[in-house]
Amino acid sequence: MGKMGCHTVLSVLIVFVLPLCEDLFCEAMTMNSVILPQESGGGASQALSHLRSKRSWVWNQFFVLEEHAGDEPLYVGKLHSDVDKGDGQVRYILSGEGAVSIFTIDENTGDIHATKRLDREQQAYYTLRAQARDRNTDLLIEPESYFIIKVQDINDNEPTFLDGPYIGRVAEMSPVGTSVVTVVATDPDDPTYGNSARLVYSIIQGQQYFSVEPNTGVVRTVQADMDREVQDCFLLIVQAKDMIGQMGGLSGTTSVTVMLTDVNDNPPRFPHSNYQFSVPESTLVSRVVAKIKALDLDLGPNAEMDYRILDKDGLGNFRILTDPNTQEGLIILQKTLDFETKPNYTFRVEASNHNVDMRFLSMGPFVDVATVRLLVQNVDEPPVFLSPVSHMVISEAAAVGSHVGIVSAQDPDNTKSPVRYSIDRKSDVDCYFKIDNRSGVITTNQPLDREIVAFHNITVLASESLNVSQVGKAVVLVSLMDVNDNAPNFTIEYQMFVCENSKPGQLIQTVSAVDRDEPENGHHLFFSLTTEASEKLNFTLRDNQDNTASILTQHGSFLQRDQLVHSLTVVISDSGSPSLSSTNTLSITVCDCDLNGHRRFCSQTALPLLLVRLSSRTAAAILTCIFTVLGIT
Ligand SMILES: *[C@@H]1O[C@H](CO)[C@@H](O)[C@H](O)[C@H]1NC(C)=O
Ligand SMILES: *[C@@H]1O[C@H](CO)[C@@H](O)[C@H](O)[C@H]1NC(C)=O
Repeated sequence: MGKMGCHTVLSVLIVFVLPLCEDLFCEAMTMNSVILPQESGGGASQALSHLRSKRSWVWNQFFVLEEHAGDEPLYVGKLHSDVDKGDGQVRYILSGEGAVSIFTIDENTGDIHATKRLDREQQAYYTLRAQARDRNTDLLIEPESYFIIKVQDINDNEPTFLDGPYIGRVAEMSPVGTSVVTVVATDPDDPTYGNSARLVYSIIQGQQYFSVEPNTGVVRTVQADMDREVQDCFLLIVQAKDMIGQMGGLSGTTSVTVMLTDVNDNPPRFPHSNYQFSVPESTLVSRVVAKIKALDLDLGPNAEMDYRILDKDGLGNFRILTDPNTQEGLIILQKTLDFETKPNYTFRVEASNHNVDMRFLSMGPFVDVATVRLLVQNVDEPPVFLSPVSHMVISEAAAVGSHVGIVSAQDPDNTKSPVRYSIDRKSDVDCYFKIDNRSGVITTNQPLDREIVAFHNITVLASESLNVSQVGKAVVLVSLMDVNDNAPNFTIEYQMFVCENSKPGQLIQTVSAVDRDEPENGHHLFFSLTTEASEKLNFTLRDNQDNTASILTQHGSFLQRDQLVHSLTVVISDSGSPSLSSTNTLSITVCDCDLNGHRRFCSQTALPLLLVRLSSRTAAAILTCIFTVLGIT
């Protein structure tokens, strides 16, 4: 080879060759020796131009197979200098990356060995320096040169799926070829050399349902009618094999779990065509009386139901709602039930899917119908009064035991139990009224007084004599009719005075009166003075015809020294029939007044008479009531 005249500076050459060797190393594979060029007088520029013409020379590389398995060091190649005559004068020295630790050189022969197993996937190149020295003088007999040991790939790595295992989802009933997921395997072997890193995908489990594109790893469906309701999950094993899938290639696998997602391909179906429920007639309106459920093999929104009542028997009396959690149809009572008038209801209920997939409508209607029969259960109901509220009127003057009115209640059940009446004592604590427990006739039990209680709200009870726990209630409102049993009186106790210097006919005071009775058109009250013929009147009274009267002076000569206090007797009558009247005495004090009629001095102020009126009648009534109650119980 030295005869080829390659008088070049190796260290320069290597710099150019490094990028080239990527493409051209195959040529040099069998040329595992490096010739150290003999030093000549040739200039560098000459050497460079020479180099360009020989750029394709790549003999400055060594190749060594990775993963050598033998026990002996692996022969890599040989350094050789043209100057070496084989007489042992030349000593070869190796230095640089991996010298000593990996590569050894025989300093006499220049043979290079690898003492360790090499792994291309760890390090693909080693750059080393070669020297040839004179054994005696230790001088370089060649310029130092660089060379490369390239580790040559073998297919020692299998493909791996770094992202596996995979989970893919695809809608059931998808067309053939729908892509599900893409799997990717990688192979660390040299992708630029041979087929060690050229992968092919295949399915080794589940190929009847899914395929994988050999080059891209895209997993696709191969069946058109994949039905989630039959099988919703598939476990595939996908293999990637290098060497383009040929025999002897290495392979790796991954699992792909494919879940079929739901589409609405199943209609709702009632498991039964007839349903029967019992409903107590006492069930309250707006309560759920029955639940029915249509089944749907689909999931979630595809199994959402709408229910509808189809027949008149159910409409109006019931409505149906969907329970959003269970998709049950809740039949809800809308009108009170009555066993005695309608003991059962029969109607059809339709269930339909809330969300429909048009693609599957051709398979048939997505609705189902079932018949619901509701049997109303008789319940022992309490007696019912003809009227829940009765109005009665009685005169306040009615004698004890007078008839007030009558109530009537009936057991609505078919047993028609007799009823017994009573008054809820809490509604009539003073025991003004009694009720006959069989006839329902209400009578007075106490003297009544409209002016004390004008209106009674009593609760009457009716219990079944066969089942006293069944009690019905009604309200009886008793209004008391007024009778004229109160005489009129002055509105207040008047304190009156007259000035000594009064003039005749002067107004002293206007007085008014009231009557506790309240006849329908109100009372007209009449005022008058008692006239005792012998006496000379000092005052006159003028009835104003509006339930007031004016007191006037008769003359102008009132003197304290004659009489300090005058009294005047006034009779007040009402317009009742017969009329009631009261006799009242007014006191009029004589005072010393100024010119404007303002009191300056009254020698004696009349003391108002304090009257404590005890309503003895009320107290007596309460006592009587208590005795009555004790007597009854
Ligand atoms: C009568 O009493 C009942 C219950 O105590 C009450 O609900 C009702 O409003 C009352 N009626 C009248 C008119 O006061
Ligand atoms: C009127 O007043 C005089 C005294 O001024 C008295 O003697 C007389 O009894 C009074 N008349 C009556 C009816 O009170």
